[in-house]
Amino acid sequence: MENFRQFVVFLLAAVLLGTLSVVFALTWVLHWRGGLAWDLGLLEFNWHPVLSIIGFILINGLAVIIYRLPWTWNVSKPLMKYIHAGLNIAAFVLIVISLVAVFDFHNSKSIPNMYSLHSWIGLAAVIMYALQIVLGLCTFLLPFTPTYIKAFYMSIHVFAGLFIFGMAIAAAEMGITEKLIFTLRSGSNITLSYSRSPPEAILVNTLGVFILVFGGCILWIATRPEWKRPPEHINKIIGNEEGSTLNETNVSAETNMERVPEGTARMRYLNLEEACQRSTF
Ligand code: HEM
Repeated sequence: MENFRQFVVFLLAAVLLGTLSVVFALTWVLHWRGGLAWDLGLLEFNWHPVLSIIGFILINGLAVIIYRLPWTWNVSKPLMKYIHAGLNIAAFVLIVISLVAVFDFHNSKSIPNMYSLHSWIGLAAVIMYALQIVLGLCTFLLPFTPTYIKAFYMSIHVFAGLFIFGMAIAAAEMGITEKLIFTLRSGSNITLSYSRSPPEAILVNTLGVFILVFGGCILWIATRPEWKRPPEHINKIIGNEEGSTLNETNVSAETNMERVPEGTARMRYLNLEEACQRSTF
């Protein structure tokens, strides 16, 4: 893999920031917001940030870059597809539970639903995520889907995945800000108001920064063409069947030979980079 060290730096940063985001979210609700419960009240609301950050930010982010991990390149593509789909479905389940928590809380307290920009962007992202999962399953996991449909849909699927992930980051940032403004109002205890930067506000603002930078790391890793998983046949050729690793292997011109159907069958030689651009589904 090209720029392997840079890849590892971004990956480690993403894992660290993603983990810290979850730790900070839990610290926020457990230390400052009374804890977690399923009681139709504020403690039930607290599941909303915790589960949405674990599901829509952390797990969704890891699912986005799962194919980029070079350690998985000798795992078969079908198995990787199941892992990618499984992570996304797990994330989706957590998001749905997080939404049930906030709708329950609103309904029990007669607070209006869906009035904020946060809720519009958030719900739109969840609906698009559901669609993305269903279309992804039908296109890439059903064995009888024609290859031309897979090829056509692939770039839409990739773009939509990144777009939805970006929407989730935006929704989380807005939700965090909204919640801080709601809870840290300048009331009787002026020193605890948001504008006085109490410890809770510092921790949660930092959480927002972690989520943003985590998103940046994921998007950077996902958009570097040189860190793409090589197509399956290249994987087999360059060592995974012979026990050598991708980093060590020198690929000869013959190994990149591919048949290109263009009327008359002829052989075309591809360099590795070019071959890698040709996705397998
Ligand atoms: C990132 C994924 C998130 C999504 C998809 C999401 C989605 C939603 C939706 C659809 C609602 C409307 C519920 C209703 O109207 O009854 C809502 C409400 C709310 N969310 Fe989130 N949310 C996310 C993350 C967060 C985070 C991290 C926080 C931080 C505390 C948060 C705070 C709030 C608050 C305070 C409300 C109630 C006020 C409002 O409706 O805007 N959300 N969220």
